Amino acid sequence: MKIIAGSSSPMLAKNLSEKLGIPVADVTIKRFPDGECYVRINEKLDEAIIVQNTYPDKNIIELFLLQDAATNAGAGKITVVIPYYGYGRQDRVFEEGEAVSSEKMARLIEQDAEKVILVNPHKAYITNFFSIDAKICDGVPSLADYFTGKVDAVIAPDKGALEMAKKASGIIKCDYNYFEKTRISGSEVKMEIKDMEVRGKKLLVLDDIISTGGTMAKAVEMLKKQGAEEVHAACVHGLFINNADERIMNAGCSHIVSTDTIESSYSKTSVAEEVAKLLV
Ligand code: R5P
Repeated sequence: MKIIAGSSSPMLAKNLSEKLGIPVADVTIKRFPDGECYVRINEKLDEAIIVQNTYPDKNIIELFLLQDAATNAGAGKITVVIPYYGYGRQDRVFEEGEAVSSEKMARLIEQDAEKVILVNPHKAYITNFFSIDAKICDGVPSLADYFTGKVDAVIAPDKGALEMAKKASGIIKCDYNYFEKTRISGSEVKMEIKDMEVRGKKLLVLDDIISTGGTMAKAVEMLKKQGAEEVHAACVHGLFINNADERIMNAGCSHIVSTDTIESSYSKTSVAEEVAKLLV
């Protein structure tokens, strides 16, 4: 069995390889002058674990080519680990005529795979779109371990992230809470935490995704205004679109941390351990 490191995830693939004692396959991945992707697996395979994101777009084609090359190299079983399942957010028809990208992506991936592992997809029911074995693992424990002993409470920026905050607080052994949003007018939203004094506290705001950073920056700003001593920002998937990191730091954040589902300088923790549990 070999691990195939897609170009979105070399660190995570290496980490998984070390954890599982499964070597990384010799693979050539390059781009033609017109930007098209070329993939070759330079050895014979019996089983393969491909680690690759479906984000941004260019990584999707690379994933399909890696799956094809793994099949051609003899892999009888292919497991695809998708640390960040891009196109996952459009998971139903919101307006008539729309494509359901999350489902379409599943249709395409399962053509050359027997198993898929997703890390904190947008919604858990996305696994139902796959007709192959589809599992989910959680990046929260690695973030919680990182912040253990460093914060007094974990705050979810909205009710949707409350379960994550609760889980992290259980590991850190601290308090948790969430921001309640009240719409004051068309353009004004009030964000407040009920029944918790934040003054003088060290807090962690935890979300599944930091995209433009708007949600996180707002949460950090509110907590600082309410007197928090330190506010840290953490997410599983750090997309950091359009200087999101600067926006969050300018709001008064002390420290930004993400996992390695999308590899960047903020990837201070790894989901390798949680992924590995689903591979043994
Ligand atoms: C929303 O459902 C997610 O949990 C995140 O809060 C959201 O995707 C963050 O987006 P942004 O960084 O653009 O505010």
